[in-house]
Amino acid sequence: MDIIIAIDGYSSCGKSTVAKEVAKLLGYTYIDSGAMYRAVTLYCLRNNLAPGGIVDLAKLQSKIDQIKIRFVYVPEFQKHETFLNGENVEEEIRRPEVANLVSPVSIIGFVREALVKQQREMGEQKGIVMDGRDIGTVVFPDAELKIFMTASPEIRAKRRLDEMIAKGVQVDTADIIKNIQDRDRIDSTREISPLRQAEDAIVLDNSYMTREEQLDFVLRLAKERI
Ligand code: DC
Repeated sequence: MDIIIAIDGYSSCGKSTVAKEVAKLLGYTYIDSGAMYRAVTLYCLRNNLAPGGIVDLAKLQSKIDQIKIRFVYVPEFQKHETFLNGENVEEEIRRPEVANLVSPVSIIGFVREALVKQQREMGEQKGIVMDGRDIGTVVFPDAELKIFMTASPEIRAKRRLDEMIAKGVQVDTADIIKNIQDRDRIDSTREISPLRQAEDAIVLDNSYMTREEQLDFVLRLAKERI
């Protein structure tokens, strides 16, 4: 039987790495729900719907039904990438301009409603691994397996720092820690669908776990349920 695996947790704790690998090994589809919030944010930037960083709610609401997000397999990179109204935006949604505006966009009720609807449609056939903040609590409260991932802020900051250094970006450790703490606070205190652990979620604290250990942990639980 195919199942739905929901992986929620704080930013920069390695959700997408685990989710992607689990999906690959099970032959499931991986869905990055954060990419969908980023794609709506990119749409706002491109269409001048957030002048000065303030989202024009009425304008965005009138356009929301025209924003279609799909994950399409790109043979060249052998993976699924994010498409916004037919255009591959995988790279663009990772840019800092998008990261800076995604929090205010993701607290808007009608945005969440529209994306949750699309996410549920993607899960109709089951056989998916979806990561995000509200997957086990709101999108798929009946998911067969829910994982809540966490790691200490210092360790997450170190990982983020290593990632930036590898990309050749100049960064300040204190800034990174602050950004992580800010995002944790915004994600877990917002009014609509805050990040919280579902009652039946299993906690995976990967502060001191290798990639293989994390993968084994999730795969063992997934196979029990399948
Ligand atoms: O996982 P990420 O950093 O790419 O997510 C980008 C933003 O989207 C993040 O600020 C939290 C938000 N998000 C959300 O509100 N709900 C989700 N299911 C996934 C992401």
